[in-house]
Amino acid sequence: MIEFQSVHKQYGNGTVAVQDLSLTVEAGTITVLVGPSGCGKTTLMRMVNRMIDPSSGSVLLDGTDIRERDPARLRRGIGYVIQQAGLFPHRTVLDNVATVPRLFGNSRRDARRRAAELLERVGLPNDLGKRYPVQLSGGQQQRVGVARALAADPPVLLMDEPFSAVDPVVRADLQDELLRLQDELGKTVLFVTHDIDEAIKLGDRVAVLRQGGYLAQYAAPDDLLAEPADDFVTSFVGRDRGYRRLSFLDSQGVCPEQADTIRIGDTSADVPSRAGWVLALDHERRPRGWLLPDATVDGQLTENQLLAGGSLYTEGTSLRGALDAALSAPSGLGVVVDADGAYVGVVTARHVLDLIESRRRSVTTEGAVP
Ligand SMILES: Nc1ncnc2c1ncn2[C@@H]1O[C@H](COP(=O)(O)OP(=O)(O)OP(=O)(O)O)[C@@H](O)[C@H]1O
Ligand SMILES: [Mg+2]
Repeated sequence: MIEFQSVHKQYGNGTVAVQDLSLTVEAGTITVLVGPSGCGKTTLMRMVNRMIDPSSGSVLLDGTDIRERDPARLRRGIGYVIQQAGLFPHRTVLDNVATVPRLFGNSRRDARRRAAELLERVGLPNDLGKRYPVQLSGGQQQRVGVARALAADPPVLLMDEPFSAVDPVVRADLQDELLRLQDELGKTVLFVTHDIDEAIKLGDRVAVLRQGGYLAQYAAPDDLLAEPADDFVTSFVGRDRGYRRLSFLDSQGVCPEQADTIRIGDTSADVPSRAGWVLALDHERRPRGWLLPDATVDGQLTENQLLAGGSLYTEGTSLRGALDAALSAPSGLGVVVDADGAYVGVVTARHVLDLIESRRRSVTTEGAVP
């Protein structure tokens, strides 16, 4: 566990980067520091591995003031990942990662074996190890950066905007990968970003900082969206916070109904007689698209005759996915699938919204804040 106790940082030029800030990062969780540029995130994070010492206040690691720890030894227990990975350009990917076990006195061969294991763990193919960093994509470089930070198996991981230089699709993959790794490893992670969506996706707890190094709010993501502490946090979490909050509402109470269906390869004779949207399934019962109301089938039904469907909602996941499926479907019917992608039923936006409304009411009558 990491505790910031009334830490304050004023740089030599008079800039106050962190303002008398107290915060506890629970062991084994991901805590995200989020806020606009210059609000003191990096300064606060670097206090943990003593790259920066606070002007006043203390940082405790597992109950011990880190000033009592030798900086070099302290840092060995703390993995550090930065933007653009910070890899050594003249060493191969494998040797970049092997550097850390080498520092710990492992033989070259053991260090390389460990490095190879780690590269696999962060989802990189084995043969990438022989390349140099410049021969990798930005996303791959970040994965190497994560592998290197994990090489000493440190209990604490500091990550300063590690994914901000990669495009949104790769970034989403890296985020998923971090969550998967964290499930396995249970590190104490302090993660810095200026992206509120990333903060909400990754954080068990999120600390919102504002200009001048003030802590505006420290809360679980759902609470941050439900009850922003002030106008700054409200504007920072954004106008669509109500919608985004749906990510945290589980699917309890979702009752899919049955739509009319048809199979790829069927003919006009198989179109259900009742006029309306008809959902086409393939032979594994996976949804392929919609047949317009009153449409006829030309010969055997092929995908060319279908209108592409909206997003699919996997049973049991958050209500945000259910509402999104309903809103994005041309038919207005959100398609529900099971974990294997097979058709289960459909839901309307109305059904999902009624469910949210009834939950809100039941929470209110229990006396809690809606
Ligand atoms: N070495 C330094 N000397 C003087 N001022 C500094 C120094 N390092 C940072 N600052 C100032 O302290 C404030 C906080 O900087 P910090 O790097 O912690 O912000 P940040 O939240 O990480 O920003 P960003 O999102 O842009 O990375 C800024 O106003 C910055 O200009
Ligand atoms: Mg920074």
